[in-house]
Amino acid sequence: MEEWTVRVEHCDTKKEKPDTDHLEFGRSFTDHMFVMDYSEPLGWHDARIVPYQKLTIDPSAMAFHYGQTVFEGMKAYYTENGEIQLFRPDKNLARLNHSNDRLCIPPVDEEFVLKAIKQLIYTDKEWIPKAEGTSLYIRPFIISTEPYLGVAPSHHYKLIVILSPVGAYYKEGINPVKIAVENHYVRAVKGGTGEAKTGGNYASSLKAQEMVSKQGYSQVLWLDGVEKKYIEEVGSMNVFFKINGEVVTPALNGSILSGVTRDSVIELLKYWDVPVTERRISMEELYQAYVDGQLEEAFGTGTAAVISPIGELAWEGKKLEVNNGKIGETAKRLYDTMSGIQYGKVEDPFGWIVKV
Ligand code: COI
Repeated sequence: MEEWTVRVEHCDTKKEKPDTDHLEFGRSFTDHMFVMDYSEPLGWHDARIVPYQKLTIDPSAMAFHYGQTVFEGMKAYYTENGEIQLFRPDKNLARLNHSNDRLCIPPVDEEFVLKAIKQLIYTDKEWIPKAEGTSLYIRPFIISTEPYLGVAPSHHYKLIVILSPVGAYYKEGINPVKIAVENHYVRAVKGGTGEAKTGGNYASSLKAQEMVSKQGYSQVLWLDGVEKKYIEEVGSMNVFFKINGEVVTPALNGSILSGVTRDSVIELLKYWDVPVTERRISMEELYQAYVDGQLEEAFGTGTAAVISPIGELAWEGKKLEVNNGKIGETAKRLYDTMSGIQYGKVEDPFGWIVKV
């Protein structure tokens, strides 16, 4: 393997930056991107920061045909005193390698990729938005690029990292979203790729999402792929419920994505001595808790979504209005603390913050 260094090629002209008071999620991209290639016998090589540009890829590249791709999502935040910080990037890069393993993609050197990401962020630091609730979204992804139509693991890959200044993922911001429970389609099954962050999981979620969005729901809540009984996740976030004082989230079972925000929320709740349990929870149990007046809160967690309260759940023709459609105290406390740590306003007792 070659000596790990990042070659830098700066762009000549800078792009116009978006209005940071009206930022949409994932619509604009910074001036530079990071690229690294994989081929055999070289392994990962030619790490470079180059001007953001279109790719030239053979139409027979395997990623286009069989979806051998993985991605990650993390954010860089500006603190009030002008420092740039990341939130648990080591967890995201470990998960990238976990996804790589599931998709037969060769592992990356996590430490080196983190160094490269820091260098990329530093290169485009003037793109990090400063308005309240905004950040620089970091999207590392790997695609298989070998020109071949046989179904087999590719021998060539590209790791690319792009950066996007973002606002809230949902148009509702921190206001509660409406979610519909999906009873027909499934997202993943145990032994499948649900635990990996790969495009196919998201592609297969579109049909159901498209159908419920016409009825005013932001996303679908997926049930287990076998019995369609147990709650799994919302495609862009993990879910939590507060039932009679206890916070419950579906246990990781092989088909649920192991969210970094999910893990952080569990840690925070334990730190506060709030009872929190990871276990199987059925939609029937949740509905019964609602009927009994014990469903106090529902919220989703994710890098893009942060902490997103759920104000209404639609299930089998019934509507479960949670906490009168308002954000609950636990979700609010988690949002304030989590974003406080991320923006450097609240002390980080866990060592989660990494400076750029
Ligand atoms: C993230 O939270 O970073 C995600 O990857 C969700 C995404 C599909 C927007």
